[in-house]
Amino acid sequence: MTKLIVANWKMNGTLKNTHKFCQQITALAQETETKNTLVICPPAPYLDALRNDLKKSDIKIGAQDCSAALEGAYTGEVSAQMLDDIGCDYVLIGHSERRQQHKESNALFSKKIHQALDAGLQPIFCIGESDADYEANRTQDVLKEQLKALENFKKNKNIVVAYEPVWAIGTGKVASPEDIQNTCAFVEKTLSSEYALSPFILYGGSVKGENASSILSLPAVGGVLVGGASLKASEFWKIAIAV
Ligand code: PGA
Repeated sequence: MTKLIVANWKMNGTLKNTHKFCQQITALAQETETKNTLVICPPAPYLDALRNDLKKSDIKIGAQDCSAALEGAYTGEVSAQMLDDIGCDYVLIGHSERRQQHKESNALFSKKIHQALDAGLQPIFCIGESDADYEANRTQDVLKEQLKALENFKKNKNIVVAYEPVWAIGTGKVASPEDIQNTCAFVEKTLSSEYALSPFILYGGSVKGENASSILSLPAVGGVLVGGASLKASEFWKIAIAV
């Protein structure tokens, strides 16, 4: 089965590094084929450079966030339509860093998802429990609550969900294959029974070349969302061809 392999560069890199990454990944893609779909989400100012550099390849581009509004007096915001205009196919929404650092809520995510879908983008909606919630066995309750942001999008085929335990993001601590499988299967079941959705479910949190194949081989995992290990083309490519 084709997997969705998504790079989230966060606020890292330079224009020079972006060009270098594109050269390297295009060369790697010419050497080895992959049936997987690759998406790169760079910082917004590099989207256009990435689109240009990758226009002859099958690699898609995505944004790390979008505005909840269509247009207007929203200084510093980027609308979903603008992202579509520049050639984006995907947009991350609800990343734990947005939840923690900007106190974004379910109501806001719902508006952002609405804008993304209206603009023809595929939202990758991120969910995940904190360390304290995991330790207290509250993972399923937390995820169920976060998934309520999808209430208005029942049956929508363009939504992707990424399960990223907050304690595994950027820490080098990966959830066990058993936990990943069970939690992604729980998300899958909840989405299907309560929202009539059957999206790709990605896992994220310290994914790298050496653990990608065991994670991507899990039946409930439709792909991965990769932060730190996506900054180097050679490491990201190892993940892209892991299965
Ligand atoms: P990480 O980040 O791979 O560096 O843990 C994942 C993410 O934040 O999406």
